[in-house]
Amino acid sequence: MPPAPDGHRVKKEIRILLLEDDLADAELNKHALREGGLNFNIARVETRLEYVEQLERGKPDLILSDNTLPAFDGFAALALAKEKTPDIPFIFVSGTLGEEMAIESLKRGATDYVLKTRLSRLVPAVHRALRESDERSERKRAEERLRESNEQLRALTVYLQYVREEERTRIAREVHDELGQSLTGMKMDLAWLMSRLPKDQKTLQAKAASMSGLIDATIQTIRRIATELRPGILDDLGLVAAIEWQANEFQTRTGIPCVVTSSVNDPILDQDLNTAFFRIFQETLTNIMRHANATRVEVSFHQVNGRLVLEVKDNGRGITEAEIHNTRSIGLLGIRERAGLLGGEVSVRGEDGKGTTVTVGIPLARSKKTEPPEHEDSHSGRPRGRAPRAETNPRG
Ligand SMILES: Nc1ncnc2c1ncn2[C@@H]1O[C@H](COP(=O)(O)OP(=O)(O)OP(=O)(O)O)[C@@H](O)[C@H]1O
Ligand SMILES: [Mg+2]
Repeated sequence: MPPAPDGHRVKKEIRILLLEDDLADAELNKHALREGGLNFNIARVETRLEYVEQLERGKPDLILSDNTLPAFDGFAALALAKEKTPDIPFIFVSGTLGEEMAIESLKRGATDYVLKTRLSRLVPAVHRALRESDERSERKRAEERLRESNEQLRALTVYLQYVREEERTRIAREVHDELGQSLTGMKMDLAWLMSRLPKDQKTLQAKAASMSGLIDATIQTIRRIATELRPGILDDLGLVAAIEWQANEFQTRTGIPCVVTSSVNDPILDQDLNTAFFRIFQETLTNIMRHANATRVEVSFHQVNGRLVLEVKDNGRGITEAEIHNTRSIGLLGIRERAGLLGGEVSVRGEDGKGTTVTVGIPLARSKKTEPPEHEDSHSGRPRGRAPRAETNPRG
């Protein structure tokens, strides 16, 4: 037995559906296949009824078909195979397949054709067809795996962003409430002590005053930390107020004027939208601070055709195309990812020496791609996403 040109199918028995009315021709086919070293099992059929039954129940690996049959014809068989089992290779084995018919058969989806007068081509054709079909199914499986893992990554991203925000909210609340209250208690006790210190004990008086100052400074620091973790204003007064507040913070810290115009009147109540826009805005401001070399920032926030659109424009050096498309840029990637998860999109444009504009649009009504886990905050029993009470008036 000569070795098969490629070994991977040799061991496994190949189920062949043979559409052939001529018994002698069927035997010749089998002979050629055996001579070629193929391990196979043939179901021979002649009529359409038998053919369809075998197609559906027999689950063949390969179809070999004569072209002209008294009760049925090869092209009809091909059409049926393409309809019912499009992945199974179909080879015409025909006595009379003219050049035009041969081309036509390939156009209609046949894998190959072999003339009965040249049956030595049959086994190589079978090997090639099976190899291609294996490769196709492997590719399909790989694509499916890739799609699944992409979906899982997406769900994981949503989940991670959600838990991160939840964690920040909780820590902000605890830091503010617990530490803040203890320090306020200490300050009151200290005031009590100070009022009882003898007036002539100047050193003790000074020490106590300095302690009181330190406590005040620590309370301020705690407020700042809580606010940086998650500003209470975002949950208490809404997105527009939070954007204005953040712009103001930026201006105070950098000295770069940051002007906000907004026509959004109603407070946006959607927690996910609020968080997404706010974190995106923070990242664009951080980028401006770090990279832009700008002297002015203009922010606009509007509702256009059922979408919320945030535009942040600076007059700095201008982001380059290469920087926009750099796949290692985590900041811009995060912006796109956050917007994308809520069905929105991002455009980043830079003009050399004139500045950079980042535009983010997210639909107001949307079907969530992945729901975050529904649960109550286990630490306080407050519903999830509820604001820390920290900093309802962060400017004060
Ligand atoms: N407003 C801007 N003006 C000019 N260049 C910018 C601006 N924003 C971003 N860039 C450029 O685009 C690059 C990518 O920004 P991105 O936020 O993705 O990354 P990064 O800020 O460098 O790092 P990080 O991951 O910490 O955010 C920056 O490194 C910077 O070169
Ligand atoms: Mg960045």
